[in-house]
Amino acid sequence: MSVMDKIRSRRSCRKYDPKPVPKETIMQLIEAARLAPSGRNLQPWFFYVVTNMERNQKIGKEIEPRLIESVPAYAGAAEKMGVSNMLFYDAPVVIYCTIKKDGIDTKELDMGLALENLMLVAEELGLGTVPVGWAKVYGTDIVTKELEIPDDEQFIISMCVGYPDKSVTRSPKDRHEVVAKFFE
Ligand SMILES: Cc1cc2nc3c(=O)[nH]c(=O)nc-3n(C[C@H](O)[C@H](O)[C@H](O)COP(=O)(O)O)c2cc1C
Repeated sequence: MSVMDKIRSRRSCRKYDPKPVPKETIMQLIEAARLAPSGRNLQPWFFYVVTNMERNQKIGKEIEPRLIESVPAYAGAAEKMGVSNMLFYDAPVVIYCTIKKDGIDTKELDMGLALENLMLVAEELGLGTVPVGWAKVYGTDIVTKELEIPDDEQFIISMCVGYPDKSVTRSPKDRHEVVAKFFE
């Protein structure tokens, strides 16, 4: 299967099998992220990998009321989905991603490239993923405190990882048709 096949088949996963993901497998994902390109090759990323589900649930439950206050439609959604909170979907692994505060303006883009590598390799290994921006928007202070993220790093996004629940069916991607204009 080509990289393009994986790009086409990857979808965000919001329902996970609780089965643990072996550490070596997680390391393959981190390795894919580590090898990403970055502006001036500064490699501004760092990854806090939490495989303790209770800890992730605690963080998610602390953040969730803020999310619901801002987006009331999410009230009761976790219960309907059968998960403890709407942040991390009870994924067995949550990777909390930080970038160095100093450096250059491409840092967030660098992290995006690293995480796309990670998600595509996860797809290749039969794992599901979903980036969780809400954790940053509503929970930067909570995550920073809980994981003791140092002052010179900025929490930027979380990434859920795990084996997809077998009942998950993937609908086709919803994408704009025209995203480029050619000048020939
Ligand atoms: C930067 C970023 C932040 C995201 N944050 C969330 C989030 O907080 N919660 C969530 O369920 N999905 C989140 N997603 C997943 C998007 O909703 C998803 O990628 C998009 O709907 C396209 O669907 P697909 O990933 O299945 O192709 C995020 C994706 C990106 C790239």
